[in-house]
Amino acid sequence: FSIKTLTGRHVVITAGPTQEAIDPVRYISNHSSGKMGFALAQAAVDAGADVTLISGPVQLTTPAGVKRIDVDSANAMHQAVQEHIVNTAIFIGCAAVADYRPKQIASQKLKKDPTNVEQTMTLTLVRNPDIITNVANMQPKPFVVGFAAETEALEQHAKDKLARKKLDMIIANDVSQSNIGFNSDQNAVTVFTSTERISLEQNTKFALAKQLISLIHKQLSS
Ligand code: C5P
Repeated sequence: FSIKTLTGRHVVITAGPTQEAIDPVRYISNHSSGKMGFALAQAAVDAGADVTLISGPVQLTTPAGVKRIDVDSANAMHQAVQEHIVNTAIFIGCAAVADYRPKQIASQKLKKDPTNVEQTMTLTLVRNPDIITNVANMQPKPFVVGFAAETEALEQHAKDKLARKKLDMIIANDVSQSNIGFNSDQNAVTVFTSTERISLEQNTKFALAKQLISLIHKQLSS
């Protein structure tokens, strides 16, 4: 049983890593499992929301009632967000979007020089679009929630991002602790708005997702 606090609201969530192709068989990515984003999608649908989950490559089943769109790269995720963002009440950027992508994607598999074991190779990377910043700059804009996964100076980085990206809420996540965060089933987070700081102690990602959806609802209706 859960209270349907978000009935009739459209919620868009990004989740998982992005994969940035180098050539037809290789890519650059990160350790995001997508579990937190999928837990948020489940909690939002349980709260009665109409949920669109835009996910990078993950090994997770789609929560019942969630509309899932699979993407690979940051550019593809950005495009999917632009296509589904209209009439969105809440946008949650939970994806670990790669900051850079290879400037060129080789059309054929890159080959090493078999006669030169000293060979080095250099990849030129270019910046990816900042998906959440683009959403936060929309007019009118949804309630925008970001994540800050950090290995140091968590609070400072989170508060900087809240302001710089014009977010309504940021969820700070210490990824230097291996028992929580990336890939784990558990997490512990601190939530910041421009006026509040709320610590949510270690729990399953689904339990935290329910608390986060309830906090978001409280902010929206205040
Ligand atoms: O700057 P940083 O990547 O740490 O910011 C994290 C927040 O920004 C997350 O909510 C993430 O989903 C979002 N983000 C994004 N597009 C990017 C980079 C980050 O939406 N290119």
